[in-house]
Amino acid sequence: MSGLSIDQQARAAEAYILQELKKSDDGKKILQDEDFQARLNMNFITVFAIFAELYGYRNDCLDQLVDLILMCGKSWQERGPELRKLDKQRESDPEWYMSNQMVGGVCYVDRYAKNLQGVKDKIPYFKELGLTYLHLMPLFLCPQPLNDGGYAVSSYRDVDPALGDINQLRELATELREAGISLIVDLVFNHTSNEHKWAQKAAAGDPEHSAMYWIFPDRNVPSAFERCTREIFPDDHPGSFIQLPDGRYIWSTFYHFQWDLNYSNPAVFRAMAAEMLYLANVGIDFFRMDAVAFMWKRMNTDCENLPEVHKLLRAFNALCRIAAPSVLFKSEAIVHPDFVVSYIDRYECQLSYNPLQMALTWEALATRDASMIAQAIERRHNIPRGCAWVNYVRSHDDIGWTFSDEDALELGKDGTNHRKFLNAFFVNRHPGSFARGVPFQDNPRTGDCRISGTTASLAGLESGHDGALERILLSFSIAMSTGGIPLIYLGDEVGQLNDYSYLNDASKMDDSRWVNRPFYPEANYAQRHDTTTVPGKVYAGIKHLINLRKSTEELSGGRAIGFFTGNPAILGYQRPGVNSTVLCLCNFSDERQWIGRDRFMGMPEAAVDLVTGNMIELRRSGIHMQSHQYIWLKF
Ligand code: GLC
Repeated sequence: MSGLSIDQQARAAEAYILQELKKSDDGKKILQDEDFQARLNMNFITVFAIFAELYGYRNDCLDQLVDLILMCGKSWQERGPELRKLDKQRESDPEWYMSNQMVGGVCYVDRYAKNLQGVKDKIPYFKELGLTYLHLMPLFLCPQPLNDGGYAVSSYRDVDPALGDINQLRELATELREAGISLIVDLVFNHTSNEHKWAQKAAAGDPEHSAMYWIFPDRNVPSAFERCTREIFPDDHPGSFIQLPDGRYIWSTFYHFQWDLNYSNPAVFRAMAAEMLYLANVGIDFFRMDAVAFMWKRMNTDCENLPEVHKLLRAFNALCRIAAPSVLFKSEAIVHPDFVVSYIDRYECQLSYNPLQMALTWEALATRDASMIAQAIERRHNIPRGCAWVNYVRSHDDIGWTFSDEDALELGKDGTNHRKFLNAFFVNRHPGSFARGVPFQDNPRTGDCRISGTTASLAGLESGHDGALERILLSFSIAMSTGGIPLIYLGDEVGQLNDYSYLNDASKMDDSRWVNRPFYPEANYAQRHDTTTVPGKVYAGIKHLINLRKSTEELSGGRAIGFFTGNPAILGYQRPGVNSTVLCLCNFSDERQWIGRDRFMGMPEAAVDLVTGNMIELRRSGIHMQSHQYIWLKF
């Protein structure tokens, strides 16, 4: 084949695969589908090039591709008419998820609604709140009682029986779709649970399945890898490996019951691709690509964010374009900001969590100084066209201070010391702290630590400090308006507090993230329409922000432009629309603050604040802002 360009090689390979497909009845059927063939034709080169790069050293590379394309074709044949209709609709409106109508919610099925039927029953509430995007935390079969909140998956095709079954998930997806709500579930790509059938066969010594994981006969290779890898859950086990009962060592980045898959084996790629397309056909709209940073390992590297991970994601993405075209990816990479953005690309992950903005919102609340978040918006906010941030105030996980030390240094802050301060502040070990968080994975050996807590508890509602409500709403105003999709951890919109009951549960007491995963806060929800109550005030404030977002066209899309306020306590950013702009200002200080009139030169005399409906004079005497006030000026 030497002398052929990659394109010519791909075409030759495609022709070979089509010939091979003709040999089976399934293959013949697939070849009759023009739609499929057209999509295959458009995307094959991506899959081929990546396969050739990752697996080309193997003699069976092309045969692996034949099997992969056959699997894709079968999956497309099984895709229901409703989903195919959606595929067409979204292909003709490819940036549908950039709309200002998008508002997300996330919850655990069991904790929030008991089971899938319970989630269905909550659809009227989701509509009341204005959700168009619902992320259900992992809901698949998993070990009991230890399963890392479901992130240890034992089967990607079976729902945890305590929550329902796969048909109920399919029905729920349909009902949500009818209600205008997309469904998001996690695709836990990096690892399976130790109870997954692949894992069990591997543990029993079966060579084919052992090759799906990173298993070594002794400590030599593991120790060599561990010279460079980071400890992720040091409370559970040191290093990256655990020992199997038969004496072998297996890679386990997270908990000891989560075993990392070996993607250098194409059988793993094919197996996970099949699971992905199976779920796509259940009606999942977005996959949250869990822990992507860890998916590829190479000796003498930290085995995080390696270039091959991007290739894997692109290949998975191309398979969706072929066999489930409306499905999109959201990356979960809670890593250094340079790496977070590396996953965001129309051909890789169209959406990404914005952990930097999330963490820096809390940083600014603690320091009463918006410099770091302003710098992040200025420097790190704009991502490729057609891609969007998922902006959140907090998630089901801990909060880690993943800012760049170099960025911090430019503002005169030493990253290590600043993280120490933030950890102390948010776990109430700093005088005068309003926050009531709990340390997570406090590692005295490395000095690493993160924090857990609900929005309300971190913002001061639990400690009873002044300004808690204002801090909550200020944080949400940023998530709602910076561009991309805002995501609410459900229950936070009614001010739910930390739940310390995890300390009484042996299977949870060692993982403080359970403090911020409370059960459905029934009493808070019951008060949500009563604005004399705290839950009612939080709800009214957030609902108002949602309504504003949905009626403000400028907030669609993902672009934000920094605005220099000249006052370090006040964050400013602009959201340009077609013929107008919305300028958002947020005061992080406990005091009244002022932005000088100079900042508004060249702007209109006055503009309306969408939040209050008041006209605000800009050029006469500048703007005075109350403590924690946010203003959205439209001009
Ligand atoms: C992701 C999840 C987290 C889980 C980890 C391992 O980071 O958000 O909850 O512990 O992956 O799957």
